[in-house]
Amino acid sequence: MTAIENRSVPQRLRAENLRLSFGAVQVLKDVSVDLEPGRITGLIGPNGAGKTSLFNCLTGLYRAQLGRIAFGGVPLETLPPHRRAALGISRSFQHMALCPDLTVLENVMVGLTLERRSGWANAFLPLPSGTREDAMARRKALAALESLGITAVAEILPAELPPGTLRLVEIARAMAGNPKALLLDEPAAGLNAVETRDLMRALQRLIRPDLVVVVVEHDMDLIMQLCDRIYVLSFGQIIAHGTPAEVRADPEVVRIYLGGDDD
Ligand SMILES: Nc1ncnc2c1ncn2[C@@H]1O[C@H](COP(=O)(O)OP(=O)(O)OP(=O)(O)O)[C@@H](O)[C@H]1O
Ligand SMILES: [Mg+2]
Repeated sequence: MTAIENRSVPQRLRAENLRLSFGAVQVLKDVSVDLEPGRITGLIGPNGAGKTSLFNCLTGLYRAQLGRIAFGGVPLETLPPHRRAALGISRSFQHMALCPDLTVLENVMVGLTLERRSGWANAFLPLPSGTREDAMARRKALAALESLGITAVAEILPAELPPGTLRLVEIARAMAGNPKALLLDEPAAGLNAVETRDLMRALQRLIRPDLVVVVVEHDMDLIMQLCDRIYVLSFGQIIAHGTPAEVRADPEVVRIYLGGDDD
């Protein structure tokens, strides 16, 4: 098999025994996850459990002090965020981060800037190669909007759109570079029931055999319906994982979620 053919083989994103501390605070304690392509994996747990920190370790924003991370067998621990993005690891953030002065389409194109060869020089000196790259970026951004079912809002400014649509735009931005792993941090936060249902349908349409999708969420109905596998983090430790039915029946999970915690 050639290197190029090899790249199309579905890749798992794995973390083994991650340990992350800030000073005396241990945020992740020997966390191991095996995130498979072709399905949606949920990551749940109370506030402060370490969910976003785990995403940050996987994407390179945080460096775990101990442990291994590999994508398709390629070690990631020492790679900076942009190298991991180049390998196809993409994410959305817990807090909305669209540029208010750019249209939806332009916002999604921003997500592609990193992979464009002519870079920022283009902004001052529009060379023919830049024009070609702009057209390519535009096509990719439009394809991403289409995959989320929101092509109709391409030329609209974010301020004119409801939260549910804005969330889809953020996901389109994360999808525009044709990632191999998509990490979504609380995509349903702040959405109403109808918007949450639309989001769930949009996420189900994104499933591909070669795409790892991981969703952090507090909305248990969404997680239980959407995910094939669920990991439960509590105080920096994975305390349960399995199918939604297995996780729902786990005594420790029941204790955390029904035993008086605010989640
Ligand atoms: N950069 C940092 N510096 C210091 N402490 C941090 C940092 N990032 C995270 N933490 C701490 O790590 C713990 C886990 O935080 P994290 O944001 O990962 O939780 P979470 O599970 O995403 O919570 P939430 O559901 O509220 O988003 C918290 O105690 C938090 O204060
Ligand atoms: Mg978080």
